[in-house]
Amino acid sequence: MSGSGPVGVGLIGAGNISDQYLGTLTRLPDVRVLFVADIDEARAAAQAEKYGVEGSGSVDELLAVEDIEIVVNLTIPAAHAEVGMRVLAAGKNVWSEKPLALDRESGRALLDEAQRRGLRVSCAPDTFLGPGLQTVRRAVDDGEIGRPLTGLTLFQTGGPERWHPSPDFFYARGGGPLFDMGPYYLTTLIQVFGPVKSVYGLGSTSHETRTIGSGPRAGRP
Ligand SMILES: NC(=O)c1ccc[n+]([C@@H]2O[C@H](COP(=O)([O-])OP(=O)(O)OC[C@H]3O[C@@H](n4cnc5c(N)ncnc54)[C@H](O)[C@@H]3O)[C@@H](O)[C@H]2O)c1
Repeated sequence: MSGSGPVGVGLIGAGNISDQYLGTLTRLPDVRVLFVADIDEARAAAQAEKYGVEGSGSVDELLAVEDIEIVVNLTIPAAHAEVGMRVLAAGKNVWSEKPLALDRESGRALLDEAQRRGLRVSCAPDTFLGPGLQTVRRAVDDGEIGRPLTGLTLFQTGGPERWHPSPDFFYARGGGPLFDMGPYYLTTLIQVFGPVKSVYGLGSTSHETRTIGSGPRAGRP
């Protein structure tokens, strides 16, 4: 990062997960959150006020703030690559929520653009940096459990509409368990075992209609 002192951070996407980020980032001495943006500017303003962030408004306004060096992209998955590209075009580094992009091509394009501009792209999940998965990694690297032959991860849930007040994106392109929760499990497997060589998949639809379970739209399909 340039200069010294706290790094300026801007946050795009003031939805459900933004409380987690703002609650943490506004308490860290090494960063200073300067602006919250959303296509819903009233939502951005409400989150900025709640966490004492001085600026809020549109994405363009955020990208014009010179002191912002890292932009945290908390938009819905379908917007991740496009918003990420806009951040890079403004000369800023981007941290994106998962998934990085909806297809390999736009993910690759984002990484290539960052390299071309000498900027950084990083992406959730960072959970493998935590003590649990780092302990696993050390145990495997040090040969403590011998040569692992298989790894198994399992995830089961009835669906996010029971707790998320705006669950639409989970059922749009870029949603679904593989894109939403898969990154956590795949990141773990890749960190411990290395890159993926081949993939097999199988799917089905369990419910034709789903009902929102929380927030102002609770009870609606
Ligand atoms: N909710 C969670 O518990 C959770 C946990 C981990 C990761 N995530 C990830 O965080 C991201 C956001 O999830 P969420 O639950 O906060 O979603 P959300 O729908 O509650 O919020 C998304 C916000 O992004 C805004 N937005 C959408 N497109 C935009 C654009 N082009 N420009 C500016 N703003 C835009 C929307 O107006 C909305 O306020 C997703 O990628 C999700 O996978 C969410």
